[in-house]
Amino acid sequence: MSARDFDRILVTSALPYANGPLHLGHLAGAYLPADLYVRYQRMKGRDVLYVCGSDEFGVAIMMRAHREGIAPQDIVDEYHPMIRDSFKRFGMSFDYYGRTSSDTHRETSQDFFRRLAEKGLFRLKTEKQLYDPEAEIFLADRFVTGTCPACGYEKAYGDQCERCGISLSPTELGHPRSTLTDATPALRETTHWHLPLGDLQPKLEAWIATHPEWKPNVLGQIRSWFQDGLRDRAITRDVPWGVPVPEDVAEAAGVDARGKVIYVWFDAPIGYISATREWAAATGNPDAWKTYWQDEGTKLVHFIGKDNIVFHCLMFPAMLMEHGEFVLEDNVPANEFLNLEGEKLSTSRGWAVWLHEYLEEFPADTLRYAMASTLPETKDADFSWSDFQARANGELADVLGNFFHRALTFAARHTDGKVPPLEEAAPEDGRTLDALAEFPARIGQCYETFRNREAVFETMQLARLGNKYFNDREPWRAAKTDFRACANTVHVSLQLCAALAVLLEPALPHSAARLRSMLRLEGVRSSEAGGGTGSIGWDEAGAPLLEVGHELGTSEILFRKIEDAQIAAQLEKLRQRAAQAQG
Ligand code: MF3
Ligand code: ZN
Repeated sequence: MSARDFDRILVTSALPYANGPLHLGHLAGAYLPADLYVRYQRMKGRDVLYVCGSDEFGVAIMMRAHREGIAPQDIVDEYHPMIRDSFKRFGMSFDYYGRTSSDTHRETSQDFFRRLAEKGLFRLKTEKQLYDPEAEIFLADRFVTGTCPACGYEKAYGDQCERCGISLSPTELGHPRSTLTDATPALRETTHWHLPLGDLQPKLEAWIATHPEWKPNVLGQIRSWFQDGLRDRAITRDVPWGVPVPEDVAEAAGVDARGKVIYVWFDAPIGYISATREWAAATGNPDAWKTYWQDEGTKLVHFIGKDNIVFHCLMFPAMLMEHGEFVLEDNVPANEFLNLEGEKLSTSRGWAVWLHEYLEEFPADTLRYAMASTLPETKDADFSWSDFQARANGELADVLGNFFHRALTFAARHTDGKVPPLEEAAPEDGRTLDALAEFPARIGQCYETFRNREAVFETMQLARLGNKYFNDREPWRAAKTDFRACANTVHVSLQLCAALAVLLEPALPHSAARLRSMLRLEGVRSSEAGGGTGSIGWDEAGAPLLEVGHELGTSEILFRKIEDAQIAAQLEKLRQRAAQAQG
């Protein structure tokens, strides 16, 4: 729980670059954990808004367009809808999914930039930068490669060395080369706006010190940035793709704005604000975004992968602070990385599982469950197809599916398909219901503190408890000798099923809906965007939800077993992709 009370929660997931499809690594970092959190909070009945969108600017997208000989807009127009649709099928419950090439975003970013410029925050610097004389373009970031001054790697990029991880500026590279034309760049003067992060460091340090509850992996990274000392960061670029530097600001500064755009890491997080504005406009109350971004009662939480920490814990907060009209982050629960079959994920080396391909073959919920069970919350984690199969078969089918099947078929056979009364309860019956009462708070505490793996594990413990109780009570034996005892077991088991059909909503939203229809359990609050009005929410799930005499639906197979051959096929596909990428 956060240290303070709040009235509403604004949740964001890092905007994915719209230059390729989503893979499992994306999901494990910024998306699945956020969706679990948001759905849980909606079940709690809290006022939650969840926004995301496509990150459509940046040099990576420009380079890809250049390679393919098309316009950057064509790339993002292809991938934005594809990403949005895969998210939807995976069950991401965004209230709004925007994109940074929208008009609202251009205006919002320019207004933000203008405001900070007018407050005198930025520093203008004229410096010599690398210029490609053939392409007639300044070579920012990944448009230039050369030798890393720190480790000697010869293919370091202008913004970062991928071997040693150091962050660089293009002029620090030895023997620089243009990645566009392979030309040796010349030095030319150009003027850019800088964010004086160094000056802001004391302020940022004081603010971070108020959040000792943040995840240790996040605080550790921040501390090491502080130790190195923050430096000014250029927040404009000479490239033809991005939000243009506002002309009035440039004019006031005596700079020619032509060809200058705002740096993608300055505009992208503002995309969270733009998305909220577009959401508000779509609801017919255009000012509604202000409550979420400007009212002190908001708890703002960014879900990201660890490579985004500096931007969300230092740069964007600095921007928000200096702007002055926005709330600051309450938490930034960044995750570490997800490996695949023991190796680092790499799209260029073909070592990835694409979400849209996964969804053609398996249910979304199976991946949600398997992944939630192995999220890289405190250290890097591994996704393997054999673990996926083991979770699907050994846990979803054998534990959860089996428990529902037993409870429902027993009710159909022995209690007329209805919930029998609990009469002359045995001590085990009472103890089991008492144990149930503690689950919502225990699981909830895990979700509140971003311990999703534990939350999902604890939820499954309820199904395990159900199976054990059912086995111990041996209702198949009691059916012949002590009908009362058999009926009581059915009663208690069905109440556990009903609780599961609520408590599984964050992790398995598609299956939880089917579980509810098997039980014909109605009145449960929705965890989808917009929430809902059902009277049964998270806290109600600890008490018996099914009335005596309630007529149940029929049991159907919820989780099909995954065959060895299906897993072998996935591994083969992965190997082939990797081989192709090599050759
Ligand atoms: N597109 C970036 C990435 O994939 C994330 C942008 S997050 C935002 O690493 F806050 F800047 F939007
Ligand atoms: Zn290096």
